[in-house]
Amino acid sequence: MKNKKDFLSITDLSPKAIWEIILMAKNLKSKFNQGDAIQESLKNKSLIMIFEKPSLRTRLSFEMGMVKLGGHAVYLGPSDIGIGIRESVSDIAKVTSSMGEIIVARTFKHQTVEELAKSSKVPVINGLSDLEHPCQALADFMTIWEVKGKLEELKIAFIGDGENNIAHSLCLGTAMLGASFSCASPSQYWMKAEIVSKAKEIALNTGALITETVNAQVAVENADIVYTDTWVSMGDEIEKEERLKTFNPYQVNKQLMKEAKKNAIFMHDLPACRGNEVTTDVIDGLQSVVFQQAENRMWAQMALTLYLLKNVC
Ligand code: CP
Ligand code: NVA
Repeated sequence: MKNKKDFLSITDLSPKAIWEIILMAKNLKSKFNQGDAIQESLKNKSLIMIFEKPSLRTRLSFEMGMVKLGGHAVYLGPSDIGIGIRESVSDIAKVTSSMGEIIVARTFKHQTVEELAKSSKVPVINGLSDLEHPCQALADFMTIWEVKGKLEELKIAFIGDGENNIAHSLCLGTAMLGASFSCASPSQYWMKAEIVSKAKEIALNTGALITETVNAQVAVENADIVYTDTWVSMGDEIEKEERLKTFNPYQVNKQLMKEAKKNAIFMHDLPACRGNEVTTDVIDGLQSVVFQQAENRMWAQMALTLYLLKNVC
């Protein structure tokens, strides 16, 4: 496949392409929900999922998306192929890309998804690595746009673990789309410096504002969106006890939500640990859009898959 395009970071798309995908996703969502969509656009196409970690949303949304578009999906879980143990990453990429049209990989190290992309003949999508979760960010921007009607001029406050795939993709994407991103984390868990400097460089052209603080109240002041993620990401389990203590002051609760704008929404990529990063009354309350976010994973990824397969010379 000549000029194949991968999606390893949210910055692999231009802002124009992000908007194109969001609009295509919304169109697919409306058509399917009205019941007048018979889609065969991905007939005879296969998506291969190579996952080193568990998943509900990412796996299900890619599989269901392929079914809706007339294609097929194959899941290869951690015990199926033993990435880098039973076989090298590059051999796995060569074999899978000789049989399928597109690959989604969920890996511990970001380097693994990069290596897969390097040896793959077909587009590779990052379905979460330790550095980024760009598919989640696409669905999140779609959700914010559905609820708020715009993205620019909005303030997103991310509270909790800044050195985290979700925070990184949101920060970069926000910079690209011209909104503001304020991240409140304990000082040892701030976003990776390389991500912040890349986001700030992008922001020079879009007018976005990227800030970091240790103070959750400061981050949520005037925020349109309050976002959090688990305090213990996959791969961080060994640090669980210490993390629960360190992040304790960063819980999103009713009190913190009151510091944001009155019409602020609450977002979480899920899975959530109620009572840790967010209280039950917030995540299950009226301001929460978490299940809209989860559903939008499917529509956004259907559009992404169509975009990546169409953009091949
Ligand atoms: N948000 C998300 O990626 O969920 P899963 O880990 O269940 O795929
Ligand atoms: N930061 C979380 C996201 C899960 C979707 C993790 O990496 O486990």
